[in-house]
Amino acid sequence: MTEVSLGMPQLPAPDYPAEVRARLEADAREIIARYPGSRSALLPLLHLVQSEEGHVTPTGMRFCAEMLDLTTAEVNAVATFYTMYRRKPSGDYQVGVCTNTLCAVMGGDAIFETLQEHLGVGNNETTEDGKVTLEHIECNAACDYAPVVMVNWEFFDNQTPESAKRLVDDLRAGREVRPTRGAPLCTFKETARILAGFPDERPGAVEASGGAGPASLAGLKLAKGEVPGARVVPQRGGGEAPASAGQPTTATGEAPEPHPSSHDAPRKTAASDPDNPAGPVTKEGK
Ligand code: FES
Repeated sequence: MTEVSLGMPQLPAPDYPAEVRARLEADAREIIARYPGSRSALLPLLHLVQSEEGHVTPTGMRFCAEMLDLTTAEVNAVATFYTMYRRKPSGDYQVGVCTNTLCAVMGGDAIFETLQEHLGVGNNETTEDGKVTLEHIECNAACDYAPVVMVNWEFFDNQTPESAKRLVDDLRAGREVRPTRGAPLCTFKETARILAGFPDERPGAVEASGGAGPASLAGLKLAKGEVPGARVVPQRGGGEAPASAGQPTTATGEAPEPHPSSHDAPRKTAASDPDNPAGPVTKEGK
């Protein structure tokens, strides 16, 4: 019998009940047929077994190994490499707070701390009702909507500590929750089956998927010249600037709210800083 290498002693992993095994085998064959080499199907198969049990179990790894003619050590190596595969039971809703640099400074750290306190759980822990697993997540390329929270990989943009608390309260109460963009929300197991490559049959999923939001398209529109330039930097040295020069504009051409930052302040350069003159440094420091 196949063994799995999770912990000691190494016990044979039990198989699925016959009915479950037959159903998963049919699904697995459909997935494997999409690839020229069967081992290429490992990632979707791991999603498939995750959709059955909510996480990747020794039984699931044994199943993947047998279907793909791999060792359980090979399957284990892949399953433990990617953070999208869970290796312990967790909640119906995986609430990931992006705490990478941009989201962190825009409020992601504060959101995470608030949710920890509000839910009474730490990183990668699940609420007692089994509904929500809270975790830090890395950048999901949605920085233009920072700070971002993801629930089962659906985006919730421009969050605040208060909006994030409402979000998890609604999830735990079973109230309908709509992501800011993308497909409607479903449970973690349902998400795993979609990630395994099976059709997304949720009403409105196809219409809602795809398409970037306005913030993501602003740069593209600027590059295409479809909107006025975002910023004109006035000349140094007191040259007359046009009336509109130096005034930032939004993608729609309207002036945004004043938003001073360190980037907007006059820069101190060697030419304007007598304490730090430009030029080669001598032994005497002059
Ligand atoms: S830093 Fe959070 S989405 Fe990029």
